[in-house]
Amino acid sequence: MIEKIINISKEAGEIIRDGFGKHKSVEFKTNSSNLVTEIDKESEKLIINFIEKEFPAHTIIAEETGHLEKNSEYTWIIDPLDGTTNFAHGLPIFSVSIGLLKKNEVVCGVVYDVMNDIVYSSEKGGGSFKNALKISVSTNSNLEESLLVTGFPYDIKNNPHKAIEKFAGFLKAARAIRRLGSAALDMCYVASGIFDGFWEVQINPWDIAAGKLIVEEAGGLVTDFNGKPMDVFSPQMLASNGYIHNSMLQILKLYE
Ligand code: IPD
Ligand code: CA
Ligand code: CA
Repeated sequence: MIEKIINISKEAGEIIRDGFGKHKSVEFKTNSSNLVTEIDKESEKLIINFIEKEFPAHTIIAEETGHLEKNSEYTWIIDPLDGTTNFAHGLPIFSVSIGLLKKNEVVCGVVYDVMNDIVYSSEKGGGSFKNALKISVSTNSNLEESLLVTGFPYDIKNNPHKAIEKFAGFLKAARAIRRLGSAALDMCYVASGIFDGFWEVQINPWDIAAGKLIVEEAGGLVTDFNGKPMDVFSPQMLASNGYIHNSMLQILKLYE
C-alpha cells in the first residue's frame, strides 16, 4: 500500500514541478489570501483517479473536490498541493500530502517534498522515514532553546482564537519561530527533529492527516490545545517532540 501511495504522490509532484513558474490561473477561494491554481486541481484529479481505479469502495476527502462518501471504513485525505501561496509566488516550498484513515485512525501517510524530491512516509507501527532513512524527533526539552514553526489560517485578519497573541507569546518564549507555508512539511520537519514544535489554531484534515502519523511514528506527540488526543478533524493542533509539549500547552493556555 505505502509503495502505491508513494508512487502516486511522486506522480502528482511531477505535475507540480512541471507547472512551477508556469501556472496560468490563480483563483481566490474565500478571500484574496486563499488561492487555488489549475495545478492544484490537476494534481488532485490524478490522485483521485488513482484511488477510484484501485480502491473504488473507499471514501475520499480532497481539499479542492470535497467529500466523496462511500460509507467505507477507509478514507483517503488528500492535499494535492500544500503550500499554494508559495507555489503561486515562486517560493519552492510545497508538498503533496496523502493520508489513509481506517475508521478514524491514520494508518498510512505520505508527504512528498516536491522541489527536493524527498518522500516522508509512515505506516502505523512501522516508524517514519525520509526516503529510506528512519527519522526521529528532537530530544530538546527546553522551550527557550526550541525552534518552532506555525502557520496562519486564511482569515488571520480576524485573529481567530487569538492566533496573533499566541504567536507573540511563542516569539518571546522560544528561541525562534518560522512560518514556511506548508503544514504537511512543517509536520515532517518536527518528525525529523528540525523543529521542536508546531502549532496551528485552525488546521484542515488534509494539512495534517499524513503528517500526524509521521510525527507520532517518529516518537512525537500530537494533541489538541488541552493536551487531549485529537483526530485529524480537530481544528486546533499542537505537534511536538513530546519533551516541550507541556511548556507549549502553557503558552497556548495564556491566550485562550
Ligand atoms: C495551507 C498551508 C499553510 C497553513 C494553512 C494551510 P494550502 O495549505 O499548509 O502552511 O498555515 O493553514 O491552509 O492552502 O497551501 O494547501
Ligand atoms: Ca494545505
Ligand atoms: Ca492545498
